[in-house]
Amino acid sequence: MFERLPFIFSTMKADVLLGLQWGDEGKGKVVDVLTPRYDVIARFQGGPNAGHTLEFEGIKHVLHTIPSGIFHPTKANVIGNGVVIDPVVFKKEIDALLKLGVDVKKNLFISRKAHLILPTHRLLDAASEAAKGTAKIGSTLKGIGPAYMDKTGRNGLRIGDLEHPDFKSLYNTLVAKHKELLAHHDYQYNLDELEPAFFEGIEEIKKLTLIDSEYVLNNYLNEGKAILAEGAQGSLLDIDFGSYPFVTSSHTITAGTCIGLGLAPGTIGEVYGIFKAYCTRVGSGPFPTELEDETGERLRKKGNEFGSTTGRPRRCGWLDLPSLKYAIMLNGVTQLIMMKSDVMSGFDKVKVCTHYKYRGKIIDHVPYDVVNEKLEPVYEELPGWSEDLMQVSDVENLPANLMAYIDYIEHATQLPITIISVGPDRMQTLMRKAVAF
Ligand code: GDP
Ligand code: IMO
Ligand code: MG
Repeated sequence: MFERLPFIFSTMKADVLLGLQWGDEGKGKVVDVLTPRYDVIARFQGGPNAGHTLEFEGIKHVLHTIPSGIFHPTKANVIGNGVVIDPVVFKKEIDALLKLGVDVKKNLFISRKAHLILPTHRLLDAASEAAKGTAKIGSTLKGIGPAYMDKTGRNGLRIGDLEHPDFKSLYNTLVAKHKELLAHHDYQYNLDELEPAFFEGIEEIKKLTLIDSEYVLNNYLNEGKAILAEGAQGSLLDIDFGSYPFVTSSHTITAGTCIGLGLAPGTIGEVYGIFKAYCTRVGSGPFPTELEDETGERLRKKGNEFGSTTGRPRRCGWLDLPSLKYAIMLNGVTQLIMMKSDVMSGFDKVKVCTHYKYRGKIIDHVPYDVVNEKLEPVYEELPGWSEDLMQVSDVENLPANLMAYIDYIEHATQLPITIISVGPDRMQTLMRKAVAF
């Protein structure tokens, strides 16, 4: 008979911050703002398809693979097993940070179980998109899909393989497979041009601390350290729950945190769900509230809605509540963060989509077929606000109509909006105590 042992440690919880829309909600900015409250920041999925922008003290910096806590030298930054890493992009990120005086060697740790993106993965991404023609996903062409395909197909190479004396032959075996696929696509390429940067990047990775991150992160929790898991992409791009096939290839929702970091479900604490006061989407796929008119153009211009990774113009539209509520449900969101309220300034009226017209019926959920069937938005109109918000430093000074907009969303979602962002800078972030609603 075993006796039950009392718990020796008081285990901390890992909080999660993730996007509730189609990505680019402002995750990087808020992770950077929240980092002082945590000991560890950990990315759990995605790869260099992500572009997370941080602005502070006159610096504007975009991170792709490295967690957004990296500018805080006393905080550990972990790239978890669920991430896919392109050594070429990664080295560029490290070099750019060094130029800003940030030496990642001290506080960046990489999971041995994270998978590698090979140059041929990027080629396969491009070949696959070219073959799809007008049905293309609108991928960032960073090799994400093919790298995750090799992971689930059990062919992938992992960071830990770099410690293997035979890494080169493992690489050659996988590349030989990729060459067959590229030949099948009849895709032209010159791999010799791409490989030197890849192997340079590999050498850079080998200089860093490689870890068994699942043990390290669980030990952190047992030691009472606070972890913030940083999502990439957005819930509506999730491989299972997004508008398939117009999605990315990873689990972007809270459950992805457990898989991508090796943390048990019970260790998850707060789930911060972040959304823009309106919607954007970059790449192809359904977007019910998209505004292909002057209003959309105005949001794009004012919000500087151009992809942080690819520079592509982002499609813009009004806030979509059924999608937001769907994402909240999937993620178990405990508090909301609303970004870019400043961009919405200057409209007489703002619209919120409350329902969809779908197959002749009014619905308020996200149905199975959103790709072949049209979801027509049903809007409610609210009064707009015109004040310039970028100088506002206190929630009390926000315009009444913006507060009414916030109130409306809180009632619809039954969640508090605890952070309101009014500009890209770290300082343009208004913290709000949880309010009764
Ligand atoms: P992420 O991928 O979720 O980290 O978001 P991105 O960095 O791709 O895109 C968000 C963009 O909006 C970046 O250019 C940010 O600097 C900017 N941004 C973030 N919050 C605000 C805000 O409240 N107002 C404005 N005007 N810009 C913001
Ligand atoms: P962050 O973390 C916005 C989109 C692409 C494309 C689809 C698939 O910055 O929010 P992929 O390269 O993954 O094969 O592309 O997903 N996408 C993003 N859109 N923000 C991102 O990341 C994205 N990462 C991928 O535009 O539609
Ligand atoms: Mg982004």
